[in-house]
Amino acid sequence: MKKIAIVTGASSGMGREFVLQIAQMYPFLEEIWVIARRKERLEDLKKEVSTTKIRSFALDFEKKESFEKLKQVLCKEGPKVCIIANGSGFGISGNLEHLEMEEISGMISLNCTALTLLTKLAIPYMGKGGYIYQFASAAAFAPQAGFSVYAATKAYVLSFSRALGQELRSRGIHVTAICPGPVKTEFFDIAYQREEVKFYKKLVLADPKKVVKKALRDGRKKKPVSVYGPVMKILTVFCKILPTGWIVRVTGK
Ligand SMILES: NC(=O)c1ccc[n+]([C@@H]2O[C@H](COP(=O)([O-])OP(=O)(O)OC[C@H]3O[C@@H](n4cnc5c(N)ncnc54)[C@H](OP(=O)(O)O)[C@@H]3O)[C@@H](O)[C@H]2O)c1
Repeated sequence: MKKIAIVTGASSGMGREFVLQIAQMYPFLEEIWVIARRKERLEDLKKEVSTTKIRSFALDFEKKESFEKLKQVLCKEGPKVCIIANGSGFGISGNLEHLEMEEISGMISLNCTALTLLTKLAIPYMGKGGYIYQFASAAAFAPQAGFSVYAATKAYVLSFSRALGQELRSRGIHVTAICPGPVKTEFFDIAYQREEVKFYKKLVLADPKKVVKKALRDGRKKKPVSVYGPVMKILTVFCKILPTGWIVRVTGK
């Protein structure tokens, strides 16, 4: 049975970085299935990874047929899925009244529905010692005025991942929700097209390489949540102890 990893959002940012790092870290992987819409970016990964076969799937996860296609490939080939990393996702900042309908449904569809369906499809092919990495965000820890839909989708990912980890514990499959603060990727070009990035986010922009390295380390330690950097760790503690209403008012200014 072929040992594989499945990485979504592999055409850029942290998903791409995830592919590069697991190819080094897990030489037993025979194939890494990389998924995103931009085919040429996925093909570029083949040039960068020499240790493991990269297999690209140019799929749009806002379309239902993408899951049908993946289901068929999984069913036909019956691989052993050792790692799933769900990196596809986007956010659009702005108050709800200023967002377009497609932007709102797109965030919910990609960040929540697609992540859940991909996980559901791949779990039957996983066994003891499997790892699932779900890209949530530090935005999952508290509601964010001005980024309300995005933050709510990430709260879903965090909640879903923690519960799924418990469901899969007896099968020896571990789930880690990755919850970084701002990370220097294309995410920001998409999220802040209409308004300026908040000053405090610019101050703590993290390197995607370091965030992914830490997430992989935390996964191996079987941590349910991975938070990168001391600033974000402190923020996480604040979110637990301070009144939510106060946090929403302060961060929403
Ligand atoms: N950057 C941050 O500050 C930050 C912080 C916390 C959490 N996160 C989360 O981390 C994850 C990775 O983000 P990133 O920072 O690496 O952003 P990114 O560089 O913009 O990567 C997003 C990925 O999602 C893919 N994608 C977008 N729409 C898609 C669709 N309809 N179907 C399939 N794939 C789609 C993109 O590929 P294509 O465009 O080729 O389809 C791309 O590969 C996201 O879930 C994000 O919310 C980001």
